[in-house]
Amino acid sequence: MNITFLLNGETVTMSAPPTLTLMDWLRQEKHLTGTKEGCNEGDCGACTVVVLDTSGVRALNACILFMPQIDGMAIRTVEGFGGNHPAQTAMVEHHGSQCGFCTPGIVASMVAGHANGRTDHDNVLAGNLCRCTGYAPIIRAAEATTGAPKPDWLDTDREWATNAAPAPTTVDELAQILMENPNATIIAGATDVGLWVTKQLRDLKTPVFLNKCAELKQITVGADAIHIGAGVTMSDLHPVIDEHLPSYGELIRRYASVQVRNAATIGGNVANGSPIGDNPPALIALGATLHLRRGNVRRELPIEEFFIDYGKQDRRPGEFVTGITIPKSAPDLQCYKLSKRFDQDISAVCGCFNITVTDGTVTAARIAFGGMAGTPKLAKTVMKSLIGQPWDQATIDAACAKFADDFTPLSDMRASAQYRLDTAANMLRRYYAQTQGVPTNLLELRV
Ligand SMILES: Cc1cc2nc3c(=O)[nH]c(=O)nc-3n(C[C@H](O)[C@H](O)[C@H](O)COP(=O)(O)OP(=O)(O)OC[C@H]3O[C@@H](n4cnc5c(N)ncnc54)[C@H](O)[C@@H]3O)c2cc1C
Ligand code: FES
Ligand code: FES
Repeated sequence: MNITFLLNGETVTMSAPPTLTLMDWLRQEKHLTGTKEGCNEGDCGACTVVVLDTSGVRALNACILFMPQIDGMAIRTVEGFGGNHPAQTAMVEHHGSQCGFCTPGIVASMVAGHANGRTDHDNVLAGNLCRCTGYAPIIRAAEATTGAPKPDWLDTDREWATNAAPAPTTVDELAQILMENPNATIIAGATDVGLWVTKQLRDLKTPVFLNKCAELKQITVGADAIHIGAGVTMSDLHPVIDEHLPSYGELIRRYASVQVRNAATIGGNVANGSPIGDNPPALIALGATLHLRRGNVRRELPIEEFFIDYGKQDRRPGEFVTGITIPKSAPDLQCYKLSKRFDQDISAVCGCFNITVTDGTVTAARIAFGGMAGTPKLAKTVMKSLIGQPWDQATIDAACAKFADDFTPLSDMRASAQYRLDTAANMLRRYYAQTQGVPTNLLELRV
């Protein structure tokens, strides 16, 4: 596949093998070894580069970014920051680097954060691990960049990317390509598929990239509903969800890291059918509708019906997810993510609760979990035991006893089966406590 992009101010045109990663190309072909290889799976941020396209400036992990995904974009590696970017100067002045292995990636995240005027440095840097400096000097360096002038190269890169912006490929074209290649591997953000290549060394047959399909990147906020295109990244979705469904927004804030959220799409997070994906429990609790297309045939279904069994989804060869529709408002929705680490960690259990109480009685309940079964799943028996009952402690206690009827979770490295069952029930207790005005979120407690 022929691609053209700007690398540190120089135009590059090349024929790119579809699963060559930007990190391997930079280090092995261009000898730009400032971009470091740490984990090679999107976890450590050592390979972070700054990417600019018509949608803005983003930090991305180069280790799980395939070359065809950067067509038409301007890329800056640490070698292209000029040596005097405010983030570089501040890292020196605030002693933000010891061994220096993590430093180029940290600087790249800071450069993107600075370009976007971000001051939530803990979030911006949550995807960058440092093993020796300690984060305090790094955060102090990030704080010191606030208000510093932006580098001139941002404007020249932006101008190049605007002129190079490829004509958007349409969903019609995508549908046709997938009908002709029904067993193609669809690649959206590659935050799952990238690891099939870098970790499992799989040879992907007929990759089809969605990233130029502008129609799939639309978010439409209507009077009662929000339609989210399958290609919308978690970063682009975050502010919209934060505004309308704040508890779901908080879940997205804790989804991976900035670099991963900048690439990962909601369509990929649903289509992969993972039992521990963070969006599906929230979407199921919201009563979301999933939209699919195969050739010219479109269909929609309640999202929970998509997840048939572990590794098995209701998606036919050549069919793809086009989008998801959710209600615009759900004042009773609460989402809880339990993971070993606060940032950048996969859920052990993710529980989402949407319970309506009218005049003291439960009139509707949708409760969905990730991490409790082979698929994201409704807690149907628990829901049934709540509906029609008074909203009180006795009802909650009775419902908590029903979790074992709905779920037979596994024990794995994230949690034991019993821990999962106990914490799922505790999430319901927490939800009830919140409705009684009891503070339950440690981050919100002030002493
Ligand atoms: C470091 C790291 C941290 C992570 N943390 C989290 C986390 O906290 N929470 C979480 O839920 N996930 C997490 N993930 C997993 C990953 O980010 C998600 O599953 C992601 O949403 C996948 O989206 P993508 O666009 O990258 O999909 P891709 O990797 O491109 O594709 C994933 C799968 O979906 C298919 N696919 C993609 N789009 C479509 C479509 N429109 N129609 C049909 N099939 C499609 C692909 O063929 C593939 O099978 C993490 C991943 C990494 C690397
Ligand atoms: S090498 Fe660790 S995130 Fe890329
Ligand atoms: S300075 Fe050594 S890992 Fe960060």
